[in-house]
Formats: sequence, structure tokens, C-alpha cells
Amino acid sequence: MRKLNVGLIGAGFMGKAHVIGYSNMPKLFWPAPAMPILKKVCDIVPEIAEEAKERFGFEQCCTDWKEVVNDPTIDVVSICTPNDSHAEIAIAALEAGKHIICEKPIAATLEDAERMEATAVKAAENGIISMNAYQYRRVPALVLAKKFIDEGSLGELLNIRCTYLQSWSADPNSPLSWRFQKKIAGAGTLGDIASHVIDIAQYLGGDIDEVVSMMKTYIKERPVQEGGVDLLGTVKLGSDAKRQAVDVDDEDTFLVKFKNGTVGSIEATRNAWGRNNYITVEVHGTEGTVFFNYERLNELQVCWAKDPDDRRGFKTIYTGPAHFYGEATWNIPGMNIGYGELKTIEMYDFIKAIATGEQPSTNFKVGCRVEKVCHAVEKSSETNKWEKVID
Ligand SMILES: NC(=O)c1ccc[n+]([C@@H]2O[C@H](COP(=O)([O-])OP(=O)(O)OC[C@H]3O[C@@H](n4cnc5c(N)ncnc54)[C@H](O)[C@@H]3O)[C@@H](O)[C@H]2O)c1
Repeated sequence: MRKLNVGLIGAGFMGKAHVIGYSNMPKLFWPAPAMPILKKVCDIVPEIAEEAKERFGFEQCCTDWKEVVNDPTIDVVSICTPNDSHAEIAIAALEAGKHIICEKPIAATLEDAERMEATAVKAAENGIISMNAYQYRRVPALVLAKKFIDEGSLGELLNIRCTYLQSWSADPNSPLSWRFQKKIAGAGTLGDIASHVIDIAQYLGGDIDEVVSMMKTYIKERPVQEGGVDLLGTVKLGSDAKRQAVDVDDEDTFLVKFKNGTVGSIEATRNAWGRNNYITVEVHGTEGTVFFNYERLNELQVCWAKDPDDRRGFKTIYTGPAHFYGEATWNIPGMNIGYGELKTIEMYDFIKAIATGEQPSTNFKVGCRVEKVCHAVEKSSETNKWEKVID
């Protein structure tokens, strides 16, 4: 079986998720499209790099990403660093002929995203694969929703409503990590989590054409965290910590019009007490409705208009072997998959793309389109007007 040597850059939260994906992929998907070999891990913090080598089972570690990109034995690069470094690493890796899975958002600025897309398009001519890690569209229940839309079971699409609500930064003592610094993250909630539901909305409804938005920053300053991994609010810094102004958004609310005439709305916040990873997607069509909530990710709720009046209502479909990726996970609906299996499904699609030479559905063009929507959302929050997404 073909072997692919993996170089991982950034060994924090997503570094761990990618390793779980690579390691578990052949265990779930067999025969695997190719065997990933954990070759070299890089983190700018030496202790994190050393620990990742030992803990995840890499053969080597380093602290300079160029050592990964310039290593002729590396076939595949996972980019799991904060957003401002994605473009430099991805462009260098693509030019060195490496296949890439890059975490989302694709970049910290639209200019960088466009440069990445252009480089990926050129590299694709030589069979190089580029993928953005928008894994949520691969949840089997959402792939089932897409099937219902594509086969016409929902009829004409009327409205797509998405939310991504979390609470981990609602406490003002949650540190000002890289996620709250515009120069590193590019944006706050918008790039961090709204981007995921923008991707889902475009996956289900096609390209978004226009937006009108409001963006709010509720917590104006936070205690500073110097470098290291972002612990996502699980650590609070005391009143003695140095404080710094926050220059990114906490919450975004916007209406969208799709190119095909469907309308919808997207809301995202990291300040909603009681909401954890509350990604909801509700699609209304002339023939029915589907509803999905990531906190119950193995379920899709469906209501069909054609059911008789006295029994019309939502029913719950538990995803399993009859559904997408179900043959590879667990054989009884209700045994359930979680975040680790989802990142494994994503890694399967990535390695399969390398093996077949077909670009994945979340390629850099798609990642860049999300960035273009984010750009229009930011612009609209300044102009208070509908703004077109510029292609
Ligand atoms: N797909 C998802 O659902 C999802 C979830 C969380 C984060 N992300 C994305 O993944 C990326 C990383 O986020 P995270 O939560 O893993 O962050 P993190 O803070 O947990 O980890 C980032 C790691 O990168 C290292 N690092 C920083 N700059 C580096 C450089 N130049 N070279 C090498 N290592 C460097 C840091 O030391 C740290 O260990 C971000 O783009 C983020 O938006 C995606």
C-alpha cells in the first residue's frame, strides 16, 4: 500500500485532532486509500514539539516549519498554526510539491486567501491536493440533509438558518490569546466559528451573494496570554495580569441572500452562556424542513409536508450504516460518532483525494469563498448596508 509521510506544523488543539485523524483513518476506513506515516512534527515552542513527538509517535520534531516544508521525504503537510501563518507556510509547501490540509479560516486576510487559492490552482495542475479543514459539512447527518436537498425531497429551498453559539469567552477573565488579536487571527468570532456555518450554508444552498450584518465586541479588554496554545477559556487570568484591548468581534449577526434566490440568516457568538458547540442548521423547503444540532450530531430531524395533518411533525433519523461514512464507523445507529471520528472522516477524504487526484469539496477555492463572504460581512457592519460578495 502507498505510504504518505506526514509533516504536522502546530501541535496544539488542532494538531492533536489531525493526529487522531491520521492514526484512526486506516482503522476505520479499510482498505485505506494510503497509509499516513507520522514523520515530523513542528511547533515553535520547543517543549510542545518534543512532547508532541513522544505523545503522538512522530519520528522527528523541530521548531522551524521550513524544515518540514523543505524535507524531501515529506509528502503531506498539516497546517495547524494560528491563522496569520497559514499563507506563508501553505504557499511554500505547495511550491515544494506537498499536499496540504490547512486549518480554517484559510488565512487572516482576504489578500492572503487569494494568494493561497492562486497557488493551489497552479499546484493542482501537477496533481497537488489542497484542502481546508471545514470538517462540519462532513457530519453524516448534514450530508444526509444535502442529499434530501439535491434529490428535491425538500422541494424549493426557502430559508437556511444557521447558528454557531459558544460560551467559552463569555468570562471577561478568559485570556486574550491569539484568537482575540486581529493581527494574528484576522477576525474574532467571524473567522473562528461563523466561517464554519458560512461553509455549511454554502454547501447546502450554493454561493451567498449578498449580506447585511451587525458585529459587536462586548468585552473590550482582557488579561494577556503570552504565546503558547489557546486554552479556549479553560484558564482564567487574575486581576494582576496585564490587560490589553480586544480588537476583534465577539458576535456577528447577518442576513444572507443566496445566488439561487434562497434567503437565510447566520448568527455566531462565543459569549452565549449555556451554549457549547451549538451549531444549528435549519432548512425550510416547500416540501419539508430539516433541522440539525451539532450537540446531537448523530441525529437529523425531518418534517415532511406530505404527511397527513394529524401526524405531521419532526421525526428523528439516527445516522448509522445506512448513511454517509456509516459503513466505516459503527454498525448500529445510536452507537454514535463524535469529534474524533469526524476529524477521521475528514482525513479519509483528504487522503482519498491524494490517492485519486481529485480535489476535495473543501479545496482552497472553497476556503477562499468563505473568506470573501466574511469580507462582505465586515464591510456591511461598517456601511450598515447590503454588501455583495465580490468574486
Ligand atoms: N476545524 C476546526 O474546527 C478548528 C478548531 C479549532 C481551531 N481551528 C484552527 O486551527 C488553527 C490552530 O488552532 P488551535 O486551536 O489548534 O491553536 P492552539 O493555540 O491550540 O495551537 C497552535 C499551536 O501552533 C504553534 N505555533 C504558533 N505559531 C507557529 C509557527 N509559526 N510554527 C510552528 N508552530 C507554531 C503554537 O505554539 C501552538 O502550539 C487555527 O487556524 C484555528 O482557527 C480549527
